[in-house]
Amino acid sequence: MGTAEVYVDFARRQASGVSPSYERLAYAVARDDDLLALLDSLPPPTRQPNLLFGVVRLLGGPVDDPAAFHDFTVAHWPAVEAQMRRRLTQTNEAGRCAVLLPVLAALPQPLALLEVGASAGLCLYPDRYAYRYDDGPTVGDGEPVLDCATTGLTPPRTRPEVVWRAGLDLTPLDVTDADDVAWLDALIWPEQEHRRARLAAAAVVAAADPPLLVRGDLVDDLPALAASAPPAATLVVFHTAVLYHVPAPRRSAFVDLVRGLPGHWVANEGPDILRHGTLPPPPDDTLHNVLALDGRPLAWTRPHGQGLTWFG
Ligand SMILES: C[S@@+](CC[C@H](N)C(=O)[O-])C[C@H]1O[C@@H](n2cnc3c(N)ncnc32)[C@H](O)[C@@H]1O
Repeated sequence: MGTAEVYVDFARRQASGVSPSYERLAYAVARDDDLLALLDSLPPPTRQPNLLFGVVRLLGGPVDDPAAFHDFTVAHWPAVEAQMRRRLTQTNEAGRCAVLLPVLAALPQPLALLEVGASAGLCLYPDRYAYRYDDGPTVGDGEPVLDCATTGLTPPRTRPEVVWRAGLDLTPLDVTDADDVAWLDALIWPEQEHRRARLAAAAVVAAADPPLLVRGDLVDDLPALAASAPPAATLVVFHTAVLYHVPAPRRSAFVDLVRGLPGHWVANEGPDILRHGTLPPPPDDTLHNVLALDGRPLAWTRPHGQGLTWFG
């Protein structure tokens, strides 16, 4: 796909119906020869809409008016380019803990959590957030409250007991660093104020007791980190929205590796990325990911943890 097509595809398949401003902007960039020429001076993976739009927002540029966006981006291109070459789209969504909780709460406690592709580690605190499944009672207390609309689930009544938490990431973000938190905020789409509030609340929780985050690769560096988990706790290696970053042969190597570790493996990934054999059809097109325990698929889940359909 050429760069213009990438932006049209993004507008049609990702932004449409979710973010009117990003849909408008992506179509405008696809027709903008100045911006396309600047983007084409970057390596292909760096040209993507989420990165460009996030960087412009990070730098204080306008994303609601395509003409103003054009002028800002052209005028500030050296700064935009530097950030686009430096940053990765590392969206960290604490809301995904709501789909992990039913599995984590049912495992033998206490848990030693090891997240691969942890970003800033906000999904390492499933024991500290509050949850509301449909109209049921709130599980836990405090902020953020993670809402999840469910079908076929008996909601968990308790949160897990976590005695150790660690994350592995190629480029971990630091939840105590204002620049890193600003980047996570800039990655949230303009209309999604509820996600911005959730990020702020989850960042407060994590910053109060920052996680151990190790810079490393989910294949090469997992065994050493897993070996440092306390043996008396149930080790849970988990990942959400990570494997699409990883080339297919490395994904297979990761699956082989994680299956050989003690404890349990929880995955929440697209079924085209992590294959599971025959699955029930997704009830609608908002359920993109499959939650699985030790390779056994359990539920369809929505991308930010806002819903799940448990398999019958
Ligand atoms: C989209 S973020 C998801 C973060 C978090 N799991 C969540 O659900 O909020 C994907 C993360 O995976 C990390 N990542 C990608 N490839 C990786 C690899 N080979 N080893 C470790 N981390 C990786 C990226 O740096 C990024 O922080």
